[in-house]
Amino acid sequence: MKRDYDSVYKQLEALLEGEGDPVVRMAETAAVLHEAFGFWWTGFYRVSPLPDGSSELLLGPFQGPVACIHIPFGKGVCGTAWARQETIVVPDVEEFPGHIACSSASRSEIVVPVFDAAGAVKAVLDIDSRELAAFSDNDVPGLEKIASLL
Ligand code: SME
Repeated sequence: MKRDYDSVYKQLEALLEGEGDPVVRMAETAAVLHEAFGFWWTGFYRVSPLPDGSSELLLGPFQGPVACIHIPFGKGVCGTAWARQETIVVPDVEEFPGHIACSSASRSEIVVPVFDAAGAVKAVLDIDSRELAAFSDNDVPGLEKIASLL
């Protein structure tokens, strides 16, 4: 499926102009993407410090059903995208070892890292679909460009 990420990018660029708050930026991005394409779950997990000095992914702004709150480094699709610092497309979540099933309705997903100015992962954008193979490499450039707005 070909999705018009360029128009979403332009819409978000205009909407977020002058807005510096990261929660606002993530919330609006999740809402615009979710509405534009009718995804099942669209949202963010933020890299968040733990008392022992390590970090985890902590649920951020999202659209869709209730989700898991904590995801450890390297776990699930989100934790793996964080660890690898690269986008992961999963056509069938049952084929992904260690996939975290927040919802059994989710069949495929894409997770895109969001980088800070220093090049470290500060969050991931996670999009889930109820259809198998809803995402492909076609979705990667558009979503990575949108993630760069954050
Ligand atoms: N499926 C994700 C967990 C997050 S929820 O789907 C919203 C994963 O395995 O990382």
